[in-house]
Amino acid sequence: MAKNAEQFTCQSCGETYRKWQGRCDSCSEWNSLIEERIEEAVPKGLSTGKGRDITFTALDTDIAEHSRNLSQLAELDRVLGGGFVPGTSILIAGDPGIGKSTLLLQVVGKMALEGLPCTYISGEEATKQITLRARRLGLDKAPVQLASANSLRDIVTSLEKGPPPKLLVIDSIQTLFADNLSSAPGTVAQVRACAQELIRLARKTSCSVILVGHVTKDGQIAGPRVLEHMVDTVLYFEGDRGHQFRILRAVKNRFGATDEIGVFEMTDTGLQEVANPSSLFLGNTDLTVSGASIFAGMEGTRPLLVEIQGLVSASPQATPRRAVVGWDSSRLAMILAVLDARCGLSFTGSEVYLNVAGGLRVNEPAADLAVAAALISSVSDIPVPERSILFGEIGLSGEIRAVGQTEARLKEAAKLGFENAIIPRGSKIKDSSLKIIEVDHLREIVSLFTQSKPVTQVV
Ligand code: TYD
Ligand code: MG
Repeated sequence: MAKNAEQFTCQSCGETYRKWQGRCDSCSEWNSLIEERIEEAVPKGLSTGKGRDITFTALDTDIAEHSRNLSQLAELDRVLGGGFVPGTSILIAGDPGIGKSTLLLQVVGKMALEGLPCTYISGEEATKQITLRARRLGLDKAPVQLASANSLRDIVTSLEKGPPPKLLVIDSIQTLFADNLSSAPGTVAQVRACAQELIRLARKTSCSVILVGHVTKDGQIAGPRVLEHMVDTVLYFEGDRGHQFRILRAVKNRFGATDEIGVFEMTDTGLQEVANPSSLFLGNTDLTVSGASIFAGMEGTRPLLVEIQGLVSASPQATPRRAVVGWDSSRLAMILAVLDARCGLSFTGSEVYLNVAGGLRVNEPAADLAVAAALISSVSDIPVPERSILFGEIGLSGEIRAVGQTEARLKEAAKLGFENAIIPRGSKIKDSSLKIIEVDHLREIVSLFTQSKPVTQVV
């Protein structure tokens, strides 16, 4: 393409077009194309042999493993895979007001108190606001280098002058601008250019850089997907604003596993770590009411017990409502269909509501059995057997399939005082203090509820 040609870039997915069009073909977003001036993508005369030789290295070359810098927050370290790797970049995204700035201020504060040089640059808040928050968090004595700036050039110049920090926080990448680009801050070109420069700086100075990213209304990181490709680690900070719990989840990690979560609680003195999350997501387990079951789930290497609530009620409408909070709605539709077709339990004419208590989002298919139990329990108005946990995946023919990490799930349930476990047949169990009820087919769960006598409800 000619130098300084115009192109149209989708602000949602980063796809480029030669001509303007109303809708992006790649992500189907309307009105997201913005005209941008592009620099030449590939230098001219590549085949003239003027480049320098690059050196190739064998895979078994002895390279000293970088020692990681601990964040002083065990939950964050767990998600990162054991602390910050020097020279890497981390993108942390989340809804506005979820606590990203609070979390990062706590991290830089704690690390600075441990003697590591840390820099926090905010493009959104004035330094006064941040110092007030630091005082509230009890971190006002931490030797953090704090600044409020938006210009990438100023930031890079200042950082290249002094000794580099070990951790650099940029809050947020959408507020920075590179003055050599004509587009506005927050556009694809700006976000990409600023991130690229900061990542380069991080590699050069062996500092870890954390970029805060805004999310759009449908939960994507605003700006191009390429931002996710550019950084080493992508973390999502999520939670329900109505609840105190906040979950930090890794969706990409070049230096650790991506299935770990960190659990925090938002208090009036900042985010507190929650070392044993199961007790938080469980309601009052002594209460025997119909329509609730306890799912023994796994989040990464950590077992997590959560309460699943179902409600089935008669509907006067032709198309009854189906509402899900904290679980996949198409998965719910599948379970309703299996209950109908394989177990003869019809939900036609009923509204179905499903809720994962505590504001958690469950992604495991292993939750199927607990969901089905909550729904059947609600229909029959018979509580799930007392002090029981459930897990297992449901197949389309109604069969219940074994899932992984049975031992860890059962151990956590026993630790929290549960007595019965309803699990798939064929699960590999060594020995467990729980009474194990093995099931093959969803029909067995249905008969479990229809055979036992109704227990008097405690309200
Ligand atoms: P913030 O970190 O500003 O969110 P983000 O940067 O993700 O937009 O979090 C602000 C919210 O956190 C705000 O609603 C107030 C609440 N909060 C507390 O409850 N306790 C605290 O100690 C602090 C600092 C904030
Ligand atoms: Mg913020």
